[in-house]
Amino acid sequence: MKKVGIIGVGAYLPKKILTNADLEKMVNTSDEWITTRTGIKERHVVAKNEAASDLALQAAKKALYDAKLKPLDIDLIIVATISPDMHFPSVSCIIQNALGAKNAACFDIAAACAGFVYALVIAQQFVARGTYKNVLVVGVEVLSSITDWQDRNTCVLFGDGAGAAIISEVKSGGIISSYLASDGSFADLLMLPAGGSRRPATHETIKERQHYIKMRGNELFKIAVNKMTEAAQVALKQAGLKCSDVDIIIPHQANMRIIMAMAKKLGLSEDKVYLNIEKYGNMSSASTAVALCEAVKKGKVQKGDIVVLDAFGAGLVWGSCIIRWS
Ligand code: ACO
Repeated sequence: MKKVGIIGVGAYLPKKILTNADLEKMVNTSDEWITTRTGIKERHVVAKNEAASDLALQAAKKALYDAKLKPLDIDLIIVATISPDMHFPSVSCIIQNALGAKNAACFDIAAACAGFVYALVIAQQFVARGTYKNVLVVGVEVLSSITDWQDRNTCVLFGDGAGAAIISEVKSGGIISSYLASDGSFADLLMLPAGGSRRPATHETIKERQHYIKMRGNELFKIAVNKMTEAAQVALKQAGLKCSDVDIIIPHQANMRIIMAMAKKLGLSEDKVYLNIEKYGNMSSASTAVALCEAVKKGKVQKGDIVVLDAFGAGLVWGSCIIRWS
């Protein structure tokens, strides 16, 4: 098996910013409530003519440039998203065409907020076995398109964005362990009820606002803390590492309080936790991807560092990936 790592990263956020003050004018909420309950101050949202593939394309171009590769060097594209341009074709096929990455096979995966971690682990399998050489992995969401802007319980939480990574063989380090898990018995805690084959779009589903994210946040909170803690612990154990070996943890950014409770359970000090929720909110599969890119670009991830990616989302699904940065 080949050693597999991340050789380039990129991120793209749409220009428009929606602040807590803006939301105060839309629903019965306050900057104080949003900040203390979630840690979010603002989020980016797409313009009317922007879709998931537009954000994914920009992040992918940056990751390719960072990895010093050309589109034709890519032989597989995996896009993690729950808010694609449309049901089909996949976002990966749309960006393959826009990039001119004619040699790439393409597919999308739906693992909600854990999508980027899941996609990285899938990419790793292909590269480790020598099936593909260079895999482009993108986490992208336009959650603003499935957010109910009349529901204060959810509309303050989400944002749009994209993050990308190039997965290839590395000489040393790379992804040293991973852990993916799911529990479909909690599916009803977080879902988009209509628009699929169970409840295709009708006048009724639109009237009932069933094409928007429905979330039982309070019930999810505790599970998120426990499962994200478990994911990091299992993956670290598999790698033969302890929490004290971790240089930086890059968690899914759903809620500042979830992240801090998880860090406390793991015994990690605040300075080892990468946070950007304040600027972007929860961007589902794009959150971990954008955070990883930012952490690398800010020099918070150095060669030889032990990096933990850790995510949790609708399904329920969760997972962690341990990388010795190379
Ligand atoms: N502004 C003001 N008040 C509000 C708002 C708001 N935006 N939203 C809810 N409230 C009110 C509620 O109505 C409730 O009022 P009540 O007591 O009069 O009924 C009160 O605030 C408390 O509501 P809770 O739901 O108990 O608030 P909580 O502290 O749990 O915070 C939150 C809610 C932020 C959603 C939190 O539960 C959370 O982050 N949950 C986990 C989310 C998560 O991890 N999701 C999975 C990943 S996302 C994905 O996969 C796409």
